[in-house]
Amino acid sequence: MIGIISAMEKESKYLTSVLDSPRREEISGIPYTSGVLEGRECVIATCGVGKVFAAICAQTMFLRYAPSMLLNSGVAGTLTPKLKIGDIAVAQKFVQHDMDTSAVGDPPGLVSGIRKIYFPADPDLVQLLQDCARKERCGVQIGCIATGDHFVAEQAEKERIAKRFGAVACEMEGGAIAQVAYVNRIPYAAIRTISDCADGTAPEDYAAFVGEAVARSAGVVRRFLAGLGREAAFARGRNCF
Ligand code: ADE
Repeated sequence: MIGIISAMEKESKYLTSVLDSPRREEISGIPYTSGVLEGRECVIATCGVGKVFAAICAQTMFLRYAPSMLLNSGVAGTLTPKLKIGDIAVAQKFVQHDMDTSAVGDPPGLVSGIRKIYFPADPDLVQLLQDCARKERCGVQIGCIATGDHFVAEQAEKERIAKRFGAVACEMEGGAIAQVAYVNRIPYAAIRTISDCADGTAPEDYAAFVGEAVARSAGVVRRFLAGLGREAAFARGRNCF
């Protein structure tokens, strides 16, 4: 079972609409639709915006569906000139940029209970996601994705997050899912298509480009699932003759 989490319905709609034999259930207000996509058993959830909903969703998915991996698909604001609107950020690692116990001497971003600032994505999944993303006609960057309970729409905040954490994109769920994946030892990766520049232009650009950006991320996830099928067949030494 592969777990796929998106924040908003417009993000998960594309993938749920192409699921074979869909079964839907709702837990704590979050819809989970399971079925078969590109030959793979999947469960697709629309978690809602922000870290708490994302964590509730990922933990529930883990306990209820026992996924062998988690993917997060969606949109993000860019934190680097290397990523323009419509380009793709593949997470190499995640940080929660609003996690801050520096007043008691900790470094910014530290999740103090487990002494971690950065949560890594699974390297094999990152590689496959990156290969799939490169098939789109757009720029692709691998890097740190910064998560926080803010829609970043100010140049100063954008620069602070980029500089402090070396992050390439910002969003509101990926780092929370990463923490859940880490404590439960689930391989995890995320892809985010850039919808805005996380500065004063962000609210307008987000509204204009979120639809196309969502479709691009979902298309890459679909290609990823198809690629996984081929890789699994290859690993089993499938006899084609
Ligand atoms: N998701 C898409 N754009 C974003 C932004 N600028 N800040 C946070 N999350 C986002």
